[in-house]
Amino acid sequence: MNSKMILLSILILMPLCLAQDISVEKLLSYNRWSSQNQRVYLNDDEKLFRQIVFFENLQKIQEHNSNPNNTYSLALNQFSDMTEEEFAQKILMKQDLVDHLMKEVSQQAINNNSLIQQNLSIAASIDWRTKGAVTSVKNQGSCGSCWSFSAAGLMESFNFIKNKALVDFSEQQLVDCVTPANGYSSYGCNGGWPVQCLDYASKVGITTLQKYPYVAVQKNCAVTGTNNGFKPKQWIRLPSTSNDLKNALNTSPISVLVDASTWGQYKSGVYNGCNQSNIKLNHAVLAVGYDSQGNWIVKNSWSTGWGENGYIRLAPNNTCGILSYNLQVTA
Ligand SMILES: *[C@@H]1O[C@H](CO)[C@@H](O)[C@H](O)[C@H]1NC(C)=O
Ligand SMILES: *[C@@H]1O[C@H](CO)[C@@H](O)[C@H](O)[C@H]1NC(C)=O
Ligand SMILES: *[C@@H]1O[C@H](CO)[C@@H](O)[C@H](O)[C@H]1NC(C)=O
Ligand SMILES: *[C@@H]1O[C@H](CO)[C@@H](O)[C@H](O)[C@H]1NC(C)=O
Ligand SMILES: *[C@@H]1O[C@H](CO)[C@@H](O)[C@H](O)[C@H]1NC(C)=O
Repeated sequence: MNSKMILLSILILMPLCLAQDISVEKLLSYNRWSSQNQRVYLNDDEKLFRQIVFFENLQKIQEHNSNPNNTYSLALNQFSDMTEEEFAQKILMKQDLVDHLMKEVSQQAINNNSLIQQNLSIAASIDWRTKGAVTSVKNQGSCGSCWSFSAAGLMESFNFIKNKALVDFSEQQLVDCVTPANGYSSYGCNGGWPVQCLDYASKVGITTLQKYPYVAVQKNCAVTGTNNGFKPKQWIRLPSTSNDLKNALNTSPISVLVDASTWGQYKSGVYNGCNQSNIKLNHAVLAVGYDSQGNWIVKNSWSTGWGENGYIRLAPNNTCGILSYNLQVTA
């Protein structure tokens, strides 16, 4: 960012500054942010709108971080010029779709097999990252394909635990092939279900990320045959209690659904910012452990620039609905 450009935007925004009490400091932080995030806008109107949204988000972040009572901090990131509505629209799964899918899966019986081994040896804390069982943090981009990342992550970790090989699997294959045309009610960048990815992969196999790279838009399914790679044989849905999730996390990472409506600017710390009386499951992620305070350690798919190197810690119990719909691969 050269100083001529900074000066130029300051001049352009002067009237706005006066109207909105926007400091030069904030303008500079916008310029720094927009050059780091390589933003391209349609026109000056959009740029102005983005700047206003950015300033509002910056204000929220500063207010939040200045309150010592908060257990987590916020920061600027790739979502900082989006409104909450836009963030939900572009990044999370569509609500009407989730509601519909939820009705479908709520008919499925919860498998209680996991209860058999309950309380045998629950570690005080567990983190599958330290065991080398978790692949690198990915970036789903502007596509509500979280469900494919959650499912791929689940299979990657299971494959590591069972076969001692840590291989990145193809989210794009899931986005392109787990579709209505193949008998699944998953819808690419609008949303879908990790459990359907398991069913699909069990039949045709999931190939590697290297062979079938991620492009963040839905394309035609580019695999054929039934021998494409790793195949899960068996999986269970866990009962919705902390004890069951902890218990299962002693065996492997777990695919979980959450309400991520308010996660956009999360930077670090123990998150408890969800509206617990209005949980909307709109995001799928991978729980990889819990700490000795009972906070859940969760791998997200919004790049390493988001959160704690791509991870979030959620407060104990059902924070953001994390106990609602959990899947484990068991064979
Ligand atoms: C922090 O919490 C204390 C105790 O609940 C409360 O009195 C205080 O007003 C809070 N501070 C802020 C900045 O919200
Ligand atoms: C699992 O347990 C729950 C509650 O304990 C019960 O409602 C449900 O019917 C059980 N499911 C199966 C498949 O046994
Ligand atoms: C397991 O531990 C939890 C929490 O300590 C307790 O609520 C539950 O009843 C225990 N279950 C069994 C089967 O012992
Ligand atoms: C949380 O959700 C409830 C129920 O929809 C709503 O009444 C309440 O205003 C929300 N609280 C906040 C802080 O948004
Ligand atoms: C979890 O919730 C239960 C009751 O809902 C509460 O008693 C317990 O203190 C909570 N645990 C933690 C670690 O917050």
